[in-house]
Amino acid sequence: MRRTLLALLIGSTLMLRITVAQTVDTAKGLKDYYKKYFSMGVAVAPRHLAGPQANLIIKQFSSLTPENAMKMGPIHPRENTYNWRDADSIVNFAQKHGLKVRGHNLCWHEQTPNWFFKDSTGKQITKEVLLKRLHDHIFTVMNRYKGKIYAWDVVNEAIDDNPANFLRNSLWYQICGEDFIVKAFEYAHEADPKAVLFYNDYNTERPEKMERVYKLLKKLRDAKVPVHAVGLQAHWSLEEPSATELRNTIEKFASLGLKVQITELDISIYPWEKERRALRPGEKGEYTPELEQRQIAKYKEVFDIMRAYKKVITGVTFWNISDQYTWLDEYPVRGRKNYPLLFDTNLQPKKAYYEVINFKK
Ligand code: GLA
Repeated sequence: MRRTLLALLIGSTLMLRITVAQTVDTAKGLKDYYKKYFSMGVAVAPRHLAGPQANLIIKQFSSLTPENAMKMGPIHPRENTYNWRDADSIVNFAQKHGLKVRGHNLCWHEQTPNWFFKDSTGKQITKEVLLKRLHDHIFTVMNRYKGKIYAWDVVNEAIDDNPANFLRNSLWYQICGEDFIVKAFEYAHEADPKAVLFYNDYNTERPEKMERVYKLLKKLRDAKVPVHAVGLQAHWSLEEPSATELRNTIEKFASLGLKVQITELDISIYPWEKERRALRPGEKGEYTPELEQRQIAKYKEVFDIMRAYKKVITGVTFWNISDQYTWLDEYPVRGRKNYPLLFDTNLQPKKAYYEVINFKK
C-alpha cells in the first residue's frame, strides 16, 4: 500500500515536471506570454531598480507604475518645490529597458501635502486658487514626462466608501464640488493630448460601487470630458470578485466606450477589511496549502476572464513585484504577512504563475 502510494507520488511529480518542462520556456516572461493580449506591468520604487529585482522586472514586465514617486505629496512637497529624483529614476530605467510607464496619480484625497489646501496664514483656500494649483501641478508634472508616460491616473478614488453616498467628502470635494474631477481631466488633456487618461478606483466589481463609478463616468462622457479609460485597481482577495462580477464590470464600463486596465492587481489571502487592525479569530498569518490552492484557482479564473476581454483590456499591472514586499504586509493589520503576488519571497515564480502563463494561445 505504502509502496503504491510512493510510486504514485513519484509518478505524479515526474508528470508535473514533464508538463512544466514542455510548456514553460524559461527565457520568456509574463510580458511575452501576454504579448498578443495586453501589457504586463508592475508598481515599483527606485530601490527595486538594481540587482535581482531589476532583473526580474526586465524579464517579466513591459510596463512600470511608480508606487509612490509621482503622488502629489512625494513629488510636490511644498508650493515651489518639486522633488523629481525618484520619479526620474523610474522613468529613466523604463526608457533604458524599453518599458512603458503609467503615471500615478494627479489628483487624490490621500498623500496630498497639507500646503495644497491652505494659504500662507493656514486658512483654507478658495475653489479658484485650488483649481489654479491643480492646473499648475498637472501641467508641470505631465510636461516633464511628455512622450515618456503613455497613460495617467488623473483622478483616484473619488467615490465614497459608504454606498449611501456618491462622491467622497474629501477636501477636493468640499472646496470645489464635482468640478475638481472635470477640471483635472481637462487640464491633463490640455497638458498632453496624446496621454490616455484614467479614472482609477477600488472595489469596482462590487455591484453597488460599480453603479456609482458608472454614474460618474457616464456623466463625464456625456459632458464630453476627456476621460478615456477606467482603472480597476483590483486589490482582490480569495473571496472577491466573483467571475460574474468581474465580467459585468468590464462590460458595463466598456459600454461607455472606455478602455479598461487592471491597475493595481494583487490577490490577498485575507478578506478585504479596511477597518481591521487586529488578526481575525483563529488567524495565524500563515500561507497554508489550502490558501495557496484557492489563490491559484482565483488567479486562473481572473486571467481566463481578462484574456477573453482582450479587446477592451489594454494593460494589467501588479501592485508590487513579489511576496518579499507587498503593501499588504502592513495593511490593514500591522505586521501580518500576506502572499498576494505571483513571485514568492525569494523572487521565484509561484504555482499560480504557471497557471497564469499556461493557456491555449
Ligand atoms: C491605492 C492607491 C495606490 C496605493 C494603494 C496602496 O490603491 O491608488 O497608489 O497607495 O492604494 O498601496
